[in-house]
Amino acid sequence: MLTRRSLAALAGAAALALAAAVPALAQPIVIKFSHVVAPDTPKGKGATKFEELAEKYTNGAVDVEVYPNSQLYKDKEELEALQLGAVQMLAPSLAKFGPLGVQDFEVFDLPYIFKGYDALHTVTNGEVGKMLFSKLEDKGIKGLAYWDNGFKIMSANSPIATPDDFLGLKMRIQSSKVLEAEMNALGAVPQVMAFSEVYQALQTGVVDGTENPPSNMYTQKMHEVQKHATVSNHGYLGYAVIVNKQFWDGLPEEVRAGLEKALTEATDYANGIAKEENDKSLQAMKDAGTTEFHELTPEELAAWEEALAPVHEEMAGRIGAETIAAVKAATGTN
Ligand code: LMR
Repeated sequence: MLTRRSLAALAGAAALALAAAVPALAQPIVIKFSHVVAPDTPKGKGATKFEELAEKYTNGAVDVEVYPNSQLYKDKEELEALQLGAVQMLAPSLAKFGPLGVQDFEVFDLPYIFKGYDALHTVTNGEVGKMLFSKLEDKGIKGLAYWDNGFKIMSANSPIATPDDFLGLKMRIQSSKVLEAEMNALGAVPQVMAFSEVYQALQTGVVDGTENPPSNMYTQKMHEVQKHATVSNHGYLGYAVIVNKQFWDGLPEEVRAGLEKALTEATDYANGIAKEENDKSLQAMKDAGTTEFHELTPEELAAWEEALAPVHEEMAGRIGAETIAAVKAATGTN
């Protein structure tokens, strides 16, 4: 007679036999996606959306691990980590490709080069965008998509309504020579600094001010440590979603197809929310009441444009006159 104990033993043996009959599931391919901003930004939300869709469209063959807020790497390190294969995917801002030796991307940093998102998209969705990506290939990097963030505002602890107000201010910038030239043109002192260090630098007075789209300022609470801001929209900040080329080319074809589908949808999503996220962040900072916001009058705007115009000429040699001309042709601002 089967006792309760022998029944339990039989059930255990049956379970073991069944497990042995099912081939061990292959380990998912892990994609580490590192970035430096908060999860509730356009880029952070785009990365989360990609994670969800990539796992769905590859039937779990891929496991995307998103590391926000510089948890894994800061700005400069993350590009090195990608080239070494320590992470597989990033979305650095377009201002951060100069140190990699691809200075053409700094064209996106030229002051007032895009009149708005539509003009920007003629570049990122067109031939110029593809041409820029082709320049990454011999660095071991493949460009997959452009993700929008937004147009930058300036902040400082003193009023900054006119270019003259910048004289001598220490301003944090990303690692772009064009942004360095921009701050120099305003008479400010540019300081390159990793994004993760900006809040503390503003708080302790290591720098006086900075520039960023509202979504980045708000989610890092920069408005809590900046008394003034000007809605200057003087430049654009957005991203290139990039992968380690060797890793990408080595993926099984059906997996890569699933990831491409996921990325196309995540890109539509991220670019669809960017403007609204920035509008909401700007309003939230205004509502917080810790920063006095200044809107430029037409005369002030003209003064900013005039002060910053020489940067285009000055940086043509670095960016490449052809790249600048291609961007201006695409946007119709020749
Ligand atoms: C910055 O460093 O200010 C930005 O590039 C951060 C980001 O990734 O948006």
